[in-house]
Amino acid sequence: MEDAKKPIGVFDSGIGGLTVAHAISKLMPEETIVYFGDTAHLPYGDKSPQLIHSFVQNISQFLIEKEQCKAVVMACNTASATSYEILRDKHKGVFPIINVIDPIVEAIVQDKTIKKVGLIATKTTVESGVYQEKLKRRNPEVTMEVLATPLLAPMIEEGFSQDKISHTVIENYLSNPRFRDIDALILGCTHYVLIAEEIHDFFGGKVKLFDSTDILALKLKLILEKEGVLSSQREKKNKFYVSDFTQGFQESASRFYGENLQLELKKLS
Ligand code: DGL
Repeated sequence: MEDAKKPIGVFDSGIGGLTVAHAISKLMPEETIVYFGDTAHLPYGDKSPQLIHSFVQNISQFLIEKEQCKAVVMACNTASATSYEILRDKHKGVFPIINVIDPIVEAIVQDKTIKKVGLIATKTTVESGVYQEKLKRRNPEVTMEVLATPLLAPMIEEGFSQDKISHTVIENYLSNPRFRDIDALILGCTHYVLIAEEIHDFFGGKVKLFDSTDILALKLKLILEKEGVLSSQREKKNKFYVSDFTQGFQESASRFYGENLQLELKKLS
């Protein structure tokens, strides 16, 4: 198959990465997406880097070898933090591997008004220190304050947003004094896009929010263009695989994607 016609592989620990898949599909409707949500192993956010890496290896092998994807998007901050460099080096020069962290760091350093940035993310992402290191390398003058916010992803998955529970949890985390004078906040988990509006309101609109949806989709488009594999016509229907299927995942999936979709069970051996 001609490379431009091949699908783009997108994966996450579960359904949060559907926010990224939707942004890609919105920007490049001619592209076919094969999504893989590793629902059998979620959450990744409190697992060891070694274990996450073994999941990532299996998923990327499936997307590249079985689904013949032309590029793989790691639509999960936690997987990007633990396994990006290993995956990129393994496929160097053959398949573009795109993580969600670099495009956000890039966008932050390009905005010269930002002097202090906050990061909220899973425990594993925060503990990896990857955001902190990458930002320091690109611009040591921008300071970063980090906070693990493990209650947010399950809260969002359970459908709590714009209500008393979500307001209380968000306020509890974000009123942390370390975020007092931030200019920007990185929503360092693909789930958090669904509560972006509440976070925006919490800061009274005074803090710029960065997430991995539109920023990543634009970056991906540039990479596909550079590689000469941008599609001009949609070949197939998008596919949405999960490693464990429940009705709950099915119901949340359409909420995360913003459109109705049908999940398909795919167990990786
Ligand atoms: N979607 C994952 C991320 O972006 C977090 C959810 C999980 O802990 O599996 O980090």
